[in-house]
Amino acid sequence: MPDTASSNLLPVKRLTVGLTNLCNLDCDYCLRVAETEHLDFDLLSDALEQARDYGVMAVTYTGGEAILHPRFRDVIRRTAALGLSYSFVTNGWHFPKIAPTLVETKNALYRVFFSLDGATEEAHDAVRGQGVFRKVMAAMALCRFHGFPFGVNMTVTKRSVASIEAIAVLSARLGADVVQLMHMLPTSEAYDRKLSLTPDERRAAEREALAVNAILKIQVQFAAGSSMPAPGTPCVSLSGETVNLDCRGRLTLCCTLSDFRNAVGEGDIVADLRTTSFREACERVHRLALTQRERRNAALAEGQLDAEFPCHFCTRTFDKAAWQTPALVQLGRATTSSLFPATARL
Ligand SMILES: C[S@@+](CC[C@H](N)C(=O)[O-])C[C@H]1O[C@@H](n2cnc3c(N)ncnc32)[C@H](O)[C@@H]1O
Ligand code: SF4
Ligand code: SF4
Repeated sequence: MPDTASSNLLPVKRLTVGLTNLCNLDCDYCLRVAETEHLDFDLLSDALEQARDYGVMAVTYTGGEAILHPRFRDVIRRTAALGLSYSFVTNGWHFPKIAPTLVETKNALYRVFFSLDGATEEAHDAVRGQGVFRKVMAAMALCRFHGFPFGVNMTVTKRSVASIEAIAVLSARLGADVVQLMHMLPTSEAYDRKLSLTPDERRAAEREALAVNAILKIQVQFAAGSSMPAPGTPCVSLSGETVNLDCRGRLTLCCTLSDFRNAVGEGDIVADLRTTSFREACERVHRLALTQRERRNAALAEGQLDAEFPCHFCTRTFDKAAWQTPALVQLGRATTSSLFPATARL
């Protein structure tokens, strides 16, 4: 195991879990592989116990649409019974049917995160489909009724960037306590051209989030992936605090890179928990986190400009954006010559 004191690695405290990659919606920019792979319940149950014994305190379920896992209620009950707190990310459509289980396990519920792609019915449904805005509004109202803490996630694209303030105000009015923003990671050249912000536009969006956060009581923040032009540790995955379990039972570096649509590389996957203990797998994640931090620091020192945006850098260096090797289009327009030797571009 790497020496945590000299490496600044932190002990693993949170597990993210891709419970299933099945989803009832089909958002055009979605990074998940659209399949029907559910995480085996017995494997999860055992992994949760090992994780708890290893020091994990919190679990975040995502997908696909986590609620569509055939044993979602059992997953929640098992998590709570082990003394772990839980949260999950959802599009809201099927939320009412699992509300009774959340009532049962309310003490363990940290937060429900609902995804919004716009502050109006028209904007949200244009991305997510007809009727989704009304469902997610109803789900948030149900949270408020039951006293479930909830937050809002929004992926920032050319379509949604002008809505940061409106999303924050709407979320605050509905009773959310946090808005988490994330730059879109492109899954194809076409969507990169259509939806990605340029580096300058991304920095401007981050300044907008800071300004809105300063004005409103609700917390508005970019999650992982915002610009970081200095070396160091940009996220809880690279700090060692969070590891990810994918819907095939494998431990991986980070939920963002897991089951990434059109990806080729699998270097973020460190172990199959059917054959490797949770402890051993976490030690491998820690070694990988250190390597990735060093790789990004070196890229920054060489002036590779995509290293400023850590998730984009991971997407490229873990071969997730194989549709365009080596540059992502928006970054590539500005930086191709400084990023890559001419031979690599041929
Ligand atoms: C993959 S979804 C899974 C949870 C659930 N189905 C939902 O939409 O809330 C988790 C989050 O990832 C975001 N997301 C999807 N595709 C993305 C992309 N290409 N880049 C960045 N975030 C993305 C979604 O907006 C959502 O907030
Ligand atoms: S973003 Fe969420 S709701 Fe939309 S298709 Fe992807 S997994 Fe489904
Ligand atoms: S993709 Fe890389 S930088 Fe982004 S959250 Fe994951 S490990 Fe961190």
